[in-house]
This record gives sequence, structure tokens and C-alpha cells, in this order.
Amino acid sequence: MARSSPQFTCTACGAVHRKWAGRCESCGAWNSIIEEAPLSEGPKAPGARGKTIALTDLATETAPPPRATSGMDEFDRVLGGGLVPASAILVGGDPGIGKSTLLLQATASFARRGLRCLYVSGEEAAAQVQMRAQRLGLTDAPVSLGAEANLRDILTTLDATRPDLAVIDSIQTMWLDSVESAPGSVAQVRASAHELVTFAKRRGVSVILVGHVTKDGQIAGPRVVEHMVDTVLYFEGERGHQFRILRAVKNRFGAADEIGVFEMTGDGLAQVANPSALFLSDRDRPAPGSAVFAGIEGTRPVLTEIQALVAPSSLGTPRRTVVGLESGRLSTILAVLEARCGIPFTGLDVFLNVAGGMRVSEPAADLAVAGALVSAREDVAIPPDMVLFGEISLSGALRPVTQTENRLKEASKLGFSQAALPVRSKTGTAEGMRLHEVVDLTGFVGEMFGAG
Ligand code: TYD
Ligand code: MG
Repeated sequence: MARSSPQFTCTACGAVHRKWAGRCESCGAWNSIIEEAPLSEGPKAPGARGKTIALTDLATETAPPPRATSGMDEFDRVLGGGLVPASAILVGGDPGIGKSTLLLQATASFARRGLRCLYVSGEEAAAQVQMRAQRLGLTDAPVSLGAEANLRDILTTLDATRPDLAVIDSIQTMWLDSVESAPGSVAQVRASAHELVTFAKRRGVSVILVGHVTKDGQIAGPRVVEHMVDTVLYFEGERGHQFRILRAVKNRFGAADEIGVFEMTGDGLAQVANPSALFLSDRDRPAPGSAVFAGIEGTRPVLTEIQALVAPSSLGTPRRTVVGLESGRLSTILAVLEARCGIPFTGLDVFLNVAGGMRVSEPAADLAVAGALVSAREDVAIPPDMVLFGEISLSGALRPVTQTENRLKEASKLGFSQAALPVRSKTGTAEGMRLHEVVDLTGFVGEMFGAG
């Protein structure tokens, strides 16, 4: 047998490397690689063979088990329409963003609807969780609460009580006595998650694992367990904003990219049923540099405001600051504006921001970004009742995007009456909307701002 040599694991993404490096080649994280003892092979009888596993076919007699809903619509939707029995879910997010609050509220809602729920906190004492529950008005919900970090004991308890749902807050505090490394290490987090997920599948208990996103390389991040679970949700928000977005990034039982929107209040998280209204700031008077993007988040249209500020720079290399969008996308659009439309941004600082702490990743936002940039540069406002969407190709041509009809419907519902969109979009009826079909960016900026 080959002698097992030490291995080096990235605590951010779990990639295994043959030697230590300052930067992980897989995910690009700095200072995240640590040395780990190789996995022990365990006692192995010479010539031992596995047994033949039971095989079956794809046909089934049993109907799919009904999903359990919590009644918190924003939470249920992100799960894909409720909790699937025996599923494993990961909820990741920055420390302090509100994961424990969200899950305590969700667990209480499930419990009130008759699910047997267990909430295990490895971070806080029972009294602390009870105080939070009191503040959130959840003390009447029949949730069993445990404060424990020893996974062996937790599994034994789960086996004895067989709840419908178990919440483990957080996976980084759990430890298994069979693994030598410290709680929070990649080996512990991975082994603990594996035990819990296997238990969930075997015993028909749904488990929700909480995972902190960590900047410090000593603690394994939630990405290490992403591949083990059925559903991966991230709870996001900007500090200083009270809005929180629960986003599905992977879901075996529903649409990925689905979002649920919440607001952090003094009494916990409140659901936001109409996020579009929330992400649009005060739009009574036209403001240069502002464009409303009609986007799609998961299955739902959401309008967001894109704001740009362009100012003469005193620096040799002008600033490019982006919040809520990929900075590479901004560079591309600036290059297209310069090369195809003759609108240079040399010597100008550019600040781009998505209002309300929202994050936009759709290429459909290109036209709104370009609109906000040129509007800011030319100091000409886009009509306040107009939404924009469309992907810009490197040639400057506009490409149609998906779900045009849904985008237009949402815009119309919120009182917008014009839309700039790619030519040849499938607009449907688009009642009451004036449509400006855009062939290419040059035509658009010429018509809109008289620039280029
Ligand atoms: P918490 O759920 O503990 O975050 P996490 O589990 O992700 O680390 O939430 C922490 C923050 O939420 C804390 O800064 C206080 C705030 N908060 C409220 O604003 N209102 C509330 O009702 C509660 C319970 C928390
Ligand atoms: Mg917490």
C-alpha cells in the first residue's frame, strides 16, 4: 500500500493540493490552505469484498411525499415550495447577518404547523436562544431546544426522538470524537456534515445546517459541504441596510436563483412581499445617472435601480468602484461604450451601485448599466417612468433576454409606462407600455441622450 503523505486542503473550497501555496488555485482564496492529516484507511481485512447492493428501477408506486410549508412564504418559495422530507439544506451567510434569527423563526413556524422540530445550538446557551425566542414572540411554538456541540450525542438524540426537522446551528461548532482535528477544521466540518446528511437520508429527518462564511482561513467555510446537501441557500445583505436576501444557489427540489426578501426589524425578520417597491428609491423627479432594471430573480421579476456617478478624476488611474454588480461587467460595458459608441471614460472616476443592497448577476442588466453610465456622464436623466433591460454583445448589438413578458408585466404593475428592450424580444401583449426597441447601443445612446 502506498504510504499516505500529508495533504493540503483549501479551507474555502475544500480543494486538495499536493503542496502548500499562498493562494488556492481552485478558488483563488489567499492564505486558505492548511495541512491536514490524511484520511485514515481504517482496518481492512485482506481480500475483503463489498456486498452486492439492492437495485431497483425508476418506476415508483409511492406518490411524492407532500412538502411541509412553514407559512413564511418567502422562506417556502426559496426551498422550492416547502420543505421536502429527508432533505439536507445548508444555510450559509456572514456572521451576524441573521441566520439564527431566520431559522429560529422558520423552525417555530414549522412547529406551529405540526412538524416535530428540534433546534440544536452549538454556539449559544439554551438561555440565550430562549431569550431571543421571547423577543421574537416564539415561546409558544413547540420546538425542542438543545445546546450541544458533540455530534455523537446529537445523533443519538435525533435517533431517539426522530423529529421531522432538525436545525444544526452551526456546522462549524460541531465535533465528532472520531476525527482528530479541532472543531471548525475542514476535516471536522466535512465529517460532521457527512454524518448528519447520511442520517437525514436514512432516518427520514430533514436537516438544516447553518454555515458561517469565513474570511479567516483557520475555519472551514460552508463551501466545503455544498456538494453533500440537496439545497444550498445563502443569506445575504449589506451592513447598514436592513434588507436581507435568502438566495437559493443550488436546489435539487426547486429553481436555483430563487430569492426570498426579508427586512431585519426590532422584532426579528419581516417578510417583504413586494421587493420591487423596496429596491426602487424615491423616483419622483428625474435624476441623471439612474436607470431602472427590470430583472428576474429565480421565478420572480424584480425591479432594481442602477445608479452611476461619473466625475473627473485626480488620479493617474481613474477609480472604478462597483457595488452589487460584477466589476468585470462594468469594464466590458465601458469598453463597448468607448469602442463602439465613441463615448470615452478616460480620466473619469466611475462609481456604480445597485440600490437597496441588491446584487444583480443577470447579463440582462447591461442596457440599464450602460444607460445609467451615459446618463451620468452626459448629465441627462432617463425618463423616470422607463425600465431598461437587454444584454449587450461586444459588437455593441443588443441581444434579447428571457422572460420579457414577465419583466414588462412587473414594470407595468409598478406604474412604469415605457421600456427600452432589445429588438425582436417576445413582448406578448405588453398592455399600456410604450416599447423602445433597441438594435444596438450606438442607436440607443443617440436617441436617448443625443450622445455618441
Ligand atoms: P443572528 O441571527 O444572531 O446572526 P447569525 O446567526 O447569522 O450570526 O442575528 C444577529 C443580528 O441580528 C444582531 O446584530 C442583531 C440583529 N437582530 C435584530 O436586529 N432584531 C432581532 O429581532 C434579532 C433577533 C436580531
Ligand atoms: Mg448565529
